[in-house]
Amino acid sequence: MPATNTVSKFGSYVDRAWGLVKHRPKGWKALLYNTAMAKARIAGPLMMPVHLTIEPTNACNARCPVCETGNGTMARRRGLIDFDVYKEFIDDVAPTTAVLMYYFMGEPFLHRRSYDMVRYARDKGIYVETCTNGDFVDAEGIVYSDVNEINFQIGGMRQETHGIYRVRSNLDKIHLNLHALLDLRRRHPESNVQVNVGFIVMKHNEHEVPEFLRWAKEIGIDRANVIDPCVRSVAEGEELLPKDRSYWFYDEQAFARGVLKPKVVPDNECTWIWNSTVVNWDGSVVPCCRDPNGKHVFGNAFEHSLREVWNGPATRAFREKIASAQGDVDICKLCSGYGVPKLDNAPPLQFEIKRLSLDTNVLDIPADLGGDAAAEQSSGSRERATVN
Ligand SMILES: C[S@@+](CC[C@H](N)C(=O)[O-])C[C@H]1O[C@@H](n2cnc3c(N)ncnc32)[C@H](O)[C@@H]1O
Ligand code: SF4
Ligand code: SF4
Repeated sequence: MPATNTVSKFGSYVDRAWGLVKHRPKGWKALLYNTAMAKARIAGPLMMPVHLTIEPTNACNARCPVCETGNGTMARRRGLIDFDVYKEFIDDVAPTTAVLMYYFMGEPFLHRRSYDMVRYARDKGIYVETCTNGDFVDAEGIVYSDVNEINFQIGGMRQETHGIYRVRSNLDKIHLNLHALLDLRRRHPESNVQVNVGFIVMKHNEHEVPEFLRWAKEIGIDRANVIDPCVRSVAEGEELLPKDRSYWFYDEQAFARGVLKPKVVPDNECTWIWNSTVVNWDGSVVPCCRDPNGKHVFGNAFEHSLREVWNGPATRAFREKIASAQGDVDICKLCSGYGVPKLDNAPPLQFEIKRLSLDTNVLDIPADLGGDAAAEQSSGSRERATVN
């Protein structure tokens, strides 16, 4: 790595550390400590993770072809998290969890208790964000749940484009649900729900990005996310990756040689698994969202406590492997890059455009929407899609 890069990385780490010490958000000590342990490549014992992902269900109405749930290659049993077990789990982790990502390998709002589950975590002082295909979102439920952030992820500006990737999802229904939520929020000014829309950029919809941005601003969305797509193979890439390669986080030269790999391949480092983990609907704990099929199960957080699993032998052995021989860890080969989760979750004060990308390409934003100045680059954002 060039020396200037190392210096700037170190500089941004120091800046963020200083920000944490100054503002002291929930979990700041654990984030500082665990990140320092990650930098020192020490596998544990760690403080409890500040950031958790929980999977309400791994079932879905849609059939997105890259997603293991959508394409039928999900190796785990289908199921729904049990509400009472969830509540016990949240009671246990609430003191140490700052942010809960309420979704993983399925459609969260197919679970009929989702609104209550989000509300439960909110009442325990946890910041909750979720991602949805939008087909079943109930506006009343969302406002009641007090979720901090909801991201409606779409695949096009019209059904013909949307439905190419979001197979079996209905864009009209999503629009109805989205407008109902925006209307209801207007009638409840006390509601703090941040409503975002994400656009998964692919070959068949890339021409619609400017239209998407204008539409999102017009209808009163808080943040429009432009998402670089992920695929699992060169063949899938040939079919789905945009022609405009600024939307690629894959290495173009390698791709031309028939190899799929990200532009930035992690090199014996991953601050993510020192600060975060994923709990599947049945309690099995996996490192990150690159493990949809449960290849690396560390233990079960519903049978034992998450504390035991988090500092248990399997998790520590995995961290040690990451720190010393990451090249041998299968799931890391297509990692889209996870930075340390952020704890400063202030909602945008005005319409914002965000690029969810591993790369630092600047998005070509129409001048009437603020040009490049409006684009916040978010390399390594924790909001990266979980099918990555
Ligand atoms: C497995 S989905 C679960 C949540 C929900 N069902 C949904 O699709 O939004 C997790 C995330 O992956 C995103 N996603 C799905 N396919 C993608 C792809 N090929 N490239 C990038 N993101 C993708 C979704 O938009 C969502 O943010
Ligand atoms: S990406 Fe989301 S909407 Fe698509 S199949 Fe997977 S879980 Fe369902
Ligand atoms: S896939 Fe990425 S986030 Fe997951 S362990 Fe590997 S480097 Fe970390």
